[in-house]
Amino acid sequence: MTLSPVRPRRVRTTPALRRLVSETHFTAAQLVLPVFVADGIAEPTSIPSMPGVLRHTLDSLADTCAQAAELGLGGVMLFGVPREADKDATGTQALRQDGILNRALARACAEVGDDLTIMADTCLDEFTTHGHCGVLAANGAVDNDATVAIYARQAVAQVRAGAHVVAPSGMMDGQVAAIRAALDEAGFQDVAILAYSAKYASAFYGPFRDAVGSSLQGDRRTYQLDPANRREGWREAALDVAEGADLVMVKPAGYYLDVVADVAARSSVPVAAYQVSGEYAAIAAAAANGWLDGAAALHESVLSIVRAGADIVLTYGALDLAAQRAQGAAQ
Ligand code: PBG
Repeated sequence: MTLSPVRPRRVRTTPALRRLVSETHFTAAQLVLPVFVADGIAEPTSIPSMPGVLRHTLDSLADTCAQAAELGLGGVMLFGVPREADKDATGTQALRQDGILNRALARACAEVGDDLTIMADTCLDEFTTHGHCGVLAANGAVDNDATVAIYARQAVAQVRAGAHVVAPSGMMDGQVAAIRAALDEAGFQDVAILAYSAKYASAFYGPFRDAVGSSLQGDRRTYQLDPANRREGWREAALDVAEGADLVMVKPAGYYLDVVADVAARSSVPVAAYQVSGEYAAIAAAAANGWLDGAAALHESVLSIVRAGADIVLTYGALDLAAQRAQGAAQ
């Protein structure tokens, strides 16, 4: 039997040759670490469904930001976890400069200044008693336009606190345009918007909802995208770009690589993808059982998201990945 002279294995013979022909790379500068900051805790606390991830105090947030800057991460995305008693139907704490998220933004900014991009989650779900991303109309539905008006004020408060980038994640129609207008009006023409454009109604947000102590009953299917829909992912991203988004995002990431690839192929602005809590927890849980190599699986999962076309990846493993890279470079 004569074999074909074409032998793709030739370029896999040594580590150096494999490195030479490697098509995809990523650096710490492309990674963003999501960080939870809780009100009313004296010490950082662990989150059972997210091994290795903490709810931070303002002090441990500052340390984490310093470490992230040191490792050359692209940024941090801050989420506030208020006390139960501070939640209400309209999420008013989100608008107050002394609300937990705005205090966290100020503290992060004081710690690292412009050495790290400080991003703010612009959404009401952590702050509402019903756990929805917006305010409710009399019939119980999430009121799009009333919510957008609040997001616009929330974004301005976040930038006043120190955010470099605001990231509306509530999937209300028109949220990007409204936030852009409010920021411009307040004199913040230079502050960028990272739009959670194609955010799917995913079961993989489960651990996040533990982390932020979500009060949600029911689901978010009237505003987040149906996981069955690929075309709509690009439609949402295109609308956000038209409304003035400076960056767009697909979320979750690993199970939505087709959407990441579609958006990356057509977007005129950088594309981020969010490896969400459930994606991270699944790897961490399997690794804790000795069922897979956690560091290798995490690296491969993020590499795959970049290979699909993401310019930026939000991942709870950002510090570990950056530390791995720094170590690898030193060897
Ligand atoms: C909503 C928000 C969610 C996440 C980020 N922003 C949760 C949701 O829609 O319920 C999920 C992130 C994750 O799972 O890691 N503000």
